[in-house]
Amino acid sequence: MSNYHIKHLEEYFQVYRRSVRNPENFWEEIAEEHFLWRKKWNNVLEWDFSKPEVKWFSGAQLNITENCIDRHLHVRGNKTAILFEPNNPDEAAEHISYLELHKRVSKFANVLKDKGIKKGDRVVIYLPMIPELAISLLACARIGAVHSVVFAGFSASALATRIQDCEAKMVITSDGSYRGAKTIDLKGIVDEALEDCPTVEKVLVAKRIHSDIKLKENRDEWLQPLLDEAYGDCVPEIVDSEDPLFILYTSGSTGKPKGMMHTTGGYMVYSAYSFKNVFQYREEDVYWCTADIGWITGHSYIVYGPLANGATTVMFEGVPSYPDYGRFWEIVQKHKVTQFYTAPTAIRALAKENIDFVTKYDLSSLKVLGTVGEPINEEAWHWYNDHVGEKNCPIVDTWWQTETGGIMISPIPFSTPTKPTYATLPLPGIQPALMDENGKEIKGNQVDGRLCIKYPWPSMARTIWGNHQRYKDTYFSAFENMYFTGDGALRDEVGYYRITGRVDDVIIVSGHNLGTAPIEDAINEHPAVAESAIVGFPHDIKGNALYGFVILKETGESRDRNNLRNEINQQISDKIGPIAKLNKIQFVTGLPKTRSGKIMRRILRKIASNDLSNLGDTSTLLNPEVVDQIIKEKL
Ligand code: WT7
Repeated sequence: MSNYHIKHLEEYFQVYRRSVRNPENFWEEIAEEHFLWRKKWNNVLEWDFSKPEVKWFSGAQLNITENCIDRHLHVRGNKTAILFEPNNPDEAAEHISYLELHKRVSKFANVLKDKGIKKGDRVVIYLPMIPELAISLLACARIGAVHSVVFAGFSASALATRIQDCEAKMVITSDGSYRGAKTIDLKGIVDEALEDCPTVEKVLVAKRIHSDIKLKENRDEWLQPLLDEAYGDCVPEIVDSEDPLFILYTSGSTGKPKGMMHTTGGYMVYSAYSFKNVFQYREEDVYWCTADIGWITGHSYIVYGPLANGATTVMFEGVPSYPDYGRFWEIVQKHKVTQFYTAPTAIRALAKENIDFVTKYDLSSLKVLGTVGEPINEEAWHWYNDHVGEKNCPIVDTWWQTETGGIMISPIPFSTPTKPTYATLPLPGIQPALMDENGKEIKGNQVDGRLCIKYPWPSMARTIWGNHQRYKDTYFSAFENMYFTGDGALRDEVGYYRITGRVDDVIIVSGHNLGTAPIEDAINEHPAVAESAIVGFPHDIKGNALYGFVILKETGESRDRNNLRNEINQQISDKIGPIAKLNKIQFVTGLPKTRSGKIMRRILRKIASNDLSNLGDTSTLLNPEVVDQIIKEKL
């Protein structure tokens, strides 16, 4: 029996049990049957969480691009690998076949080599969502260089910090980017960042917006002429399974960004396996993940996971609101997308708009819908299910992290019955545990605690680049012999997991632990509410009280505010209990968010407790201007 593709619930349980009983056997079988290795491993797994040290398939040799490209050439060479949909809907989509991808990656890899990039060198990639972005990752992997993609919405100082931290030798960028009706001067941002980055020797510049930029002599070069000249075949560099594939920075809420280092063999196996199962991917599908490749979601589920399965993966350059709020659905119709994967923040933004933007399009090609990035509230879940999935597409609420490299807890569509706001069950090979404050595991169902993982999985990050001690302190010190995720979760009566939010955001009111997600969920159920965030603030009697920041829908704007406050609290009382009622409710027009769409509760917490002296770094916010407005209108 092949473990690779789960097709019904009974099979999931069987496979899961086997994967836990003997993880090494389980992963070895998958690795052997479904991938191309140049040399086999000596050991499937070596691990010690106290160091922490984890090695998967050690001694094995491979090149991940042979798995993602070369091995498909004979079976599906002319199939579209990357389907590029430009920002401007009038510009033609580009279909890049596996054969063409092979040629373009090879040429790019030869250019990198020619410019002095060698195995192990770090290359920072600061590009918009154009084909060169995916191709540059693969070109690095082709020659064993370590890529570090920095989201092209980050500032010069954020870019500089990351370049300095990984001591990159090269930066790949473009003359600029399109974002809806706007253009962004990426090259200008790179120039500013590089004033402080002595390790960078070369900058390669892709042409996208044809703006008039300056190339710095001896440092910058246009990419295209180099590609035109380059040879269209590049022998892959064979690397060890545990050689680094990439570094990806995750900011967290405090401190310097952490360069999560992922290695090659295990990451490949897990991203491919989880992609296949979570999206129930089949050969004829057209899969679309709307994330940016600057996030881990894009690495694992736009590039590596789909390509390792020989899939057609859509890359969208634009934004959901351009030229109007129907753009996502227009693209689904146009390319007959079968799996659609996005974030709750995008769903909520689209759900605020007129439903005609959705119903106008034929979405009948869709089979599976996915979400990732934060807890999805019940209302957004239903909107997604009813209007996009037309009640016909299972929703996979996928919980995972930059650190985990791949999806950890998620329904398997057509097998696991879904339940709104629940990520449901762990994927095979994933062993979650809920822990109490005293470091004891909480067994059984209908419990909640801190979410940890007990046993290694192939795609886990191996270290924080240049700071192994911080890796240990952050993830392996809170609980003995466990990876601590930083999230809180509850396990319901059938064993389904619901992520309740970051543990740092948990609020203790009169001695009760309250996660942010379920309360915000209850608030968002109110018909006049579009979105909300809650934080704690000091209270003489309760210890903490709850402060809610609430965005109203257009339809709610005319309502009496005090009535609304009462109704919202009534709703919380009904769904959770009076303990979770809010002491203060401030209506706002926006919430401070990170560029990946997460609410920055740290800032709201300071505002709520009148601690305005040190709001911390607000420069990486998507919308720093809302902070001032919220302060001005504070209750
Ligand atoms: C944090 C990780 C994994 C790719 C995108 C985010 C939260 C993520 C869910 C979900 C509830 C979720 C967690 C997690 N999160 N997915 N389905 N339900 N919460 O990657 O930036 O590393 O963030 O996002 O809090 O720890 P990331």
